Amino acid sequence: MSALRTLDDLLAEGVSGRRVLVRADLNVPLDKQTGAITDDGRIRAVLPTLGALVEAGAKVVVCSHLGRPKGAPDPQFSLGPVAGRLGELLGAPVHFATDTVGDSARSTVADLADGQVALLENLRFNAGETSKDEAERGAFADQLAAFGDAYVDDAFGAVHRKHASVFDVPARLPHVAGRLVLREVEVLSKLTGDPERPYVVVLGGSKVSDKLAVIEALLPTVDRLLIGGGMCFTFLKAQGLEVGTSLLEKDMVDTCRNLLERSGGKIMLPVDVVVADAFAPDAAHDTVRVDGIPSHRLGLDVGPETVAGFSAALSQAKTIFWNGPMGVFEMPAFAAGTRGIAEAITKADVFSVVGGGDSAAAVRALGLDESSFGHISTGGGASLEYLEGKTLPGIAALEN
Ligand code: 3PG
Ligand code: MG
Repeated sequence: MSALRTLDDLLAEGVSGRRVLVRADLNVPLDKQTGAITDDGRIRAVLPTLGALVEAGAKVVVCSHLGRPKGAPDPQFSLGPVAGRLGELLGAPVHFATDTVGDSARSTVADLADGQVALLENLRFNAGETSKDEAERGAFADQLAAFGDAYVDDAFGAVHRKHASVFDVPARLPHVAGRLVLREVEVLSKLTGDPERPYVVVLGGSKVSDKLAVIEALLPTVDRLLIGGGMCFTFLKAQGLEVGTSLLEKDMVDTCRNLLERSGGKIMLPVDVVVADAFAPDAAHDTVRVDGIPSHRLGLDVGPETVAGFSAALSQAKTIFWNGPMGVFEMPAFAAGTRGIAEAITKADVFSVVGGGDSAAAVRALGLDESSFGHISTGGGASLEYLEGKTLPGIAALEN
């Protein structure tokens, strides 16, 4: 990879009085009932870049997506609440534009004084942002690029998306990587380079199909691959076990069997699981061995023996990457597996990376000390695709 131009390069040129368009990933989880921000980790993560630009006297124009609106305004995905939280964290008001490239955005940007920050409304309220059509994306990118004299990409969580604000805007403006993007790439490149061994990866989450490419890419590289979360049941099925009504991707069973056969014993699966009568926080539940899952119950967490076995493997590691919860950690009855694995990682004397919006949110939701992990990535899909060795459109655009 060629060296990226960085925020420091831009600051060295001087940004006082210049408009700097910053693509951030402010796609934070919201409470379904109240719409309140439940985890502001991604807002905090972009503060070093924004703070440096404010201090240098730039007119800072921030843009982001939130959720997956369908190319038109949708109030439940408004960035308004994020503007409020960002202002609190910055200690200065954030001027919020109620559209992305319309009248409100134009006047908000025009009225910015040096050292002030604006946030544009959700990029995905515009069909051009995610369009597969180059011309449609390009037309939207032209409108966005008109708000900046330079562009900073600090949206690591979105660098795997070939979207207008990520891929096409940097082709139109002088562009650099922000502090967050730079740190993420530095850390993840240690994992794809020459990680200190043993290198142990823990994967969880619900779907094998989402993780297949990364499992394929990691198998030759890792020393151990520990698999928990909803996706473990498809692997257990591939071993011929009964999984009851647990999450199962039937069309992936053969693929999982093949992976197990080729893994050279590197893949470790749960030996016990917590099974429940229903997917509910108050469902009756018990711990059973994986060869004793009743046909009418579903697994919602890994069991204590699994946590012990996985923890033993993690305690030997010198490098750890963890993506995906081990169970339904949002429900206290099914959080012990995720907590146990997270604690084992913090205890190990290792370089550890937590990848993924969900795993990062789990770390914070469980009240674990973030500083006891080497790095908590703000990217889920992005960190996995980086580890797969894929070209990430947002990074490629910065390299050109
Ligand atoms: C994420 O949360 O994964 C990133 O913000 C990217 O969002 P997306 O998966 O909707 O593109
Ligand atoms: Mg995603």
